[in-house]
Amino acid sequence: MLERIQETAAFLKGKMHTQPETAIILGTGLGSLANEITEKYEIAYQDIPYFPLSTVEGHSGKLIFGKLGQKDIMAMQGRFHYYEGYTMQQVTFPVRVMRELGIKTLFVSNAAGGMNPAFSIGDLMIITDHINFFPEHPLHGKNIPYGPRFPDMSEAYDRELIRKADKIAAEKGIGVQHGVYVGTQGPTFETPAEYRMYHILGGDAVGMSTVPEVIVANHCGIKVFGISVITDLGVEGKIVEVSHEEVQKAADAAQPKMTEIMRELINRA
Ligand code: HPA
Repeated sequence: MLERIQETAAFLKGKMHTQPETAIILGTGLGSLANEITEKYEIAYQDIPYFPLSTVEGHSGKLIFGKLGQKDIMAMQGRFHYYEGYTMQQVTFPVRVMRELGIKTLFVSNAAGGMNPAFSIGDLMIITDHINFFPEHPLHGKNIPYGPRFPDMSEAYDRELIRKADKIAAEKGIGVQHGVYVGTQGPTFETPAEYRMYHILGGDAVGMSTVPEVIVANHCGIKVFGISVITDLGVEGKIVEVSHEEVQKAADAAQPKMTEIMRELINRA
């Protein structure tokens, strides 16, 4: 495993002409941020040794290197979801490669169902913490010596970055929610009883990504900042039929404010 990660990193280092310390996983709601990257050079996942390939429609797979504002960054366009059939090692492989490349901070976004009754569709939720409901743990197995066998998770989402993001949102007059993201395997959306259960257990939003990458980033000593866009509601009395299209539509509508906060935060971080 470690050899493969190092081989992939060596391959990428051979192609890179910058040394970014910032990585972005362009999840739902952040796709258009890719258009703002300048001095771009892109490498398709299919050309990177050991990289899994994206399978979901609308998630094209490539690494983008370049600048966002003044910052050197690397971005993942297309992420790997557990529900697609990848192992947790595959889902989190790019984050481990990031660690080898010298990444210090990771920015992530996702779409999620809101369970907090105060939330509305289109809200942005700064992720303050998560609950891991995936059936397989990404650190299961032999410990990779990027971090301890039993990693601390007391500040999985960096408090200083959350504080900065709050300041940016206030300056720009963008309302933000805060909350706990529950990561589940999907691919089903939740039944009303499941939404209720996750809410009772302490979740504010639920989605099918992010948690594996964040766990591995923490293990690797990479700081994390994440935002969910609330695309549907898992709140009693407000639950209606959900589809991928509606999730996408709500995420697209919230994209400008998500992009604005992320762009500014990445530049100030
Ligand atoms: N549940 C799980 N994943 C999701 C949801 C949801 O309600 N909305 C967007 N992704």
